[in-house]
Amino acid sequence: MDQDFLGKTALVTGSSGIGLGAALRLARGGAKVFLCGNDDAHNQKAEAAAEGLDITVAHVDVSNEASVRDWIEPIGQSEGQIDVLVNAAAIQTYGDISTTDSAHWDRVMAINLRSCFLTSHHAYPFMKADGGAIVHVSSVQGHGNQNNVLAYATTKGAIHAMTRAMAVDCAKDKVRVNSISPGSVRTPLLEFAAQEVVGAGNDIEPAIAQFGEAHPIGRVGTVDETSELIAFLCSEKSGFCTGGDYLVDGGLLAHLGV
Ligand SMILES: NC(=O)c1ccc[n+]([C@@H]2O[C@H](COP(=O)([O-])OP(=O)(O)OC[C@H]3O[C@@H](n4cnc5c(N)ncnc54)[C@H](O)[C@@H]3O)[C@@H](O)[C@H]2O)c1
Repeated sequence: MDQDFLGKTALVTGSSGIGLGAALRLARGGAKVFLCGNDDAHNQKAEAAAEGLDITVAHVDVSNEASVRDWIEPIGQSEGQIDVLVNAAAIQTYGDISTTDSAHWDRVMAINLRSCFLTSHHAYPFMKADGGAIVHVSSVQGHGNQNNVLAYATTKGAIHAMTRAMAVDCAKDKVRVNSISPGSVRTPLLEFAAQEVVGAGNDIEPAIAQFGEAHPIGRVGTVDETSELIAFLCSEKSGFCTGGDYLVDGGLLAHLGV
């Protein structure tokens, strides 16, 4: 593998699924990676997967400013420069305008959206000295959405606007900011969504296959496929890309489905 991140320091949120995949890809490319999550079981599995790689896993609640600041500031101070930030931590919840109460709304906004602001805000002083790249993980549901995902879809659409606003401001410091919008990708979050469809205790595989059939490519995506796109956007190979959203969706949004 290209050592395209040799000498780079990277922060990644979300210690399973797409976040873990991005952390492994960046570390295999030579980066020193700091990965965080608030689920101890995910963090332990991430530590096992990271064996032999330069990945340090920390327990952090990305919706809590003190927790985010106490994670990032010591890293910035000891490393001097933070080159890469990937925001993948999020939760998927369900509800429409009637069934989403304000506590649900606030929780999803805090974990999925405010987190991207908090990590960027606290990492930026350590990024702007020498430039860098930020990737926010959004979703196809920020472009169009299924039923009953009011709060989740709102956070994902807002990430697109936040990405543009940050990109415009941060270009002067040579910090590029992009987002990716995955379709269905096999992760614990997708398995949770499949379990919601089939009901507790039932086999999720038929639902995963059905999600796959909705994508013109005919299957759900893999974490390796999102990791490669994230790595490209974090690397100097994408030096002219900023303010964009990049689909990794098996053609889902290209298809009218009629
Ligand atoms: N898997 C998909 O099909 C899919 C599709 C589109 C977008 N996404 C997006 O990809 C990103 C990663 O999701 P994933 O599919 O890898 O799911 P995942 O559940 O495997 O990963 C999300 C991680 O975030 C962590 N997390 C949740 N709340 C947190 C908090 N308060 N503080 C710190 N960590 C927290 C979870 O513990 C988990 O490890 C999310 O932003 C999700 O919305 C996923």
